[in-house]
Amino acid sequence: LQAKPLAGHTVLMTAGPTYEPIDPVRGITNISSGKMGYALARALALAGAKVQLISGPVALPVPYGVERIDVQTAREMHQAVMQRVGQARIFIGVAAVADFRPLDVAADKIKKTGDGLTLNLTRNPDILAEVASLPAAPFCVGFAAESQNLDTYASGKLQAKRLQLVVGNLVQDGMGGDTNQVVLFDAAGSHPLPRASKTEVATGIVAHLAKMLEV
Ligand code: PMT
Repeated sequence: LQAKPLAGHTVLMTAGPTYEPIDPVRGITNISSGKMGYALARALALAGAKVQLISGPVALPVPYGVERIDVQTAREMHQAVMQRVGQARIFIGVAAVADFRPLDVAADKIKKTGDGLTLNLTRNPDILAEVASLPAAPFCVGFAAESQNLDTYASGKLQAKRLQLVVGNLVQDGMGGDTNQVVLFDAAGSHPLPRASKTEVATGIVAHLAKMLEV
């Protein structure tokens, strides 16, 4: 086994949640802790890759040898990715990007004037789909967080977004916690990994990735 199988590879990746402001003190986010993405960034760096990690707001230290770029919103994440993707050989989307954001961000704290409040939401850019459809697209790895029918949805994403690899996980398994159980989907089929710590799962994903890149 080669000690640094990804030496010479540049990886651009996203991790964590995004935060979409509603007003100066409130926003929409999700329960992604960033642990899976940070574990993967660390494993990639250990395998010799040069890693740039575009990170939403998380409470985690920067893994050794990884360059972290902090962002809050999906649009900031999108911009940070697009600025750097030209130099990347591999793109990995681990972030739980908000699909929608409030259409208008209130300049002042919203007061409770009525019995209810309606928020108008608008679509955020799909970063992974945009990267995968670039004319000189890098090798693209997507994550799929599903609450049911993992096989159907995750393998569907492989084809729909034209990705080389999809890492599927059930949200009730992996989101927020320290362990995860994933299934890898590529053109050759599906490859389940055993439930393990996110560090071990990350090592398994990197081993699979290194094998795919060997040829
Ligand atoms: O952070 P943890 O607590 O450790 O949890 C890890 C995790 C469950 C968040 C992670 O393992 C995971 O599954 N991440 C992807 C979550 C997700 O949003 O999946 P999705 O099926 O909605 O998106 C599919 C893919 O498109 C993902 O690679 C996502 O990063 C990407 N995407 C989605 C929407 C969008 N607007 N832009 C994107 O790039």
